[in-house]
Amino acid sequence: MTGTHLARETLSGWVIQAPAKLNVLLDVLPKRLDGYHGIRTLLCPMRIGDTLRLKLLKGNEGRIRLRVVDRLPRAVSSPVPLGETNLVTRALRAIFARCNAQPNCEVTLTKRVPSQAGLGGGSSDAAAALLAANRAWGFQLSTDQLIETAAQVGSDVPALLFRRATWCEGRGEVVSPAAVPAGIPVLIAKPHQGLSTADVFRDCVPAEPSDNGRLMSLLTLLRQGRLQQASRLMTNQLQAPAEKLCGELSRLLALLRECGAVACQMTGSGSACFALCHNHTHAARAASWLKSRGVAWTVATSTS
Ligand code: C5P
Repeated sequence: MTGTHLARETLSGWVIQAPAKLNVLLDVLPKRLDGYHGIRTLLCPMRIGDTLRLKLLKGNEGRIRLRVVDRLPRAVSSPVPLGETNLVTRALRAIFARCNAQPNCEVTLTKRVPSQAGLGGGSSDAAAALLAANRAWGFQLSTDQLIETAAQVGSDVPALLFRRATWCEGRGEVVSPAAVPAGIPVLIAKPHQGLSTADVFRDCVPAEPSDNGRLMSLLTLLRQGRLQQASRLMTNQLQAPAEKLCGELSRLLALLRECGAVACQMTGSGSACFALCHNHTHAARAASWLKSRGVAWTVATSTS
């Protein structure tokens, strides 16, 4: 069941949140014939996210007007493309094509999640656009049809249709629900430099993938709140190539460890990293401390 129901109708149009994500476990498999790497990942949505507002306009010329309200500090803010390459526009084009419709609309995107961070910002905006469009225009696409449409837009987009943790395989688009409790306190931090997903995958040498037993144990330990033990099973095979591409990353990980975090790791293809914290106060204090040490962007949040 995707989060279509989470799009709310207001006086000024449809509103939906686009949560950031973390990869608690990420294995990279060898490159496939289509040029993508196989992956196996446990992806968890966070409380923090962007907001997407969709206003339906009169006319059927397929005009999409995109506006961005940037809530990010200058250190991590980067220009969002407003044309056809934007993932929100691509998602709307994909669902319009599937449903044989060409409505006009205006989308306002409030950005709180930095890009080139491995936090799924753009992918989650695209997933939110699909969910809102499906509801607003009454397209009534099923979950499987939404997943197929999302996969045309990007590897992470299908998982972000679900507002809960998912286990993802294939190139990331084969998703199944996973039970990770909400409310685990997390600190997320990003250095100044961002990373391109394609660059990090290019430099990754696939290692032995985790077996299903590891995933099951990780889920059980997270559910039981045994974060210390769970942290021993966390892994991200993209972290080593990312550390070579981004000099600031190793220092950031060292600072996160100094905060007394239960565990820390890079998310996705980076360059953001996260730490599981003892409680919300610990996460908030650690975020301020990292900021005082010159880290470009920090936020205290939790799993959702
Ligand atoms: O699917 P997405 O557009 O997010 O992927 C961006 C790039 O990252 C791809 O073009 C590919 O180079 C790399 N990638 C990969 N294997 C994946 C996902 C992404 O090699 N499973």
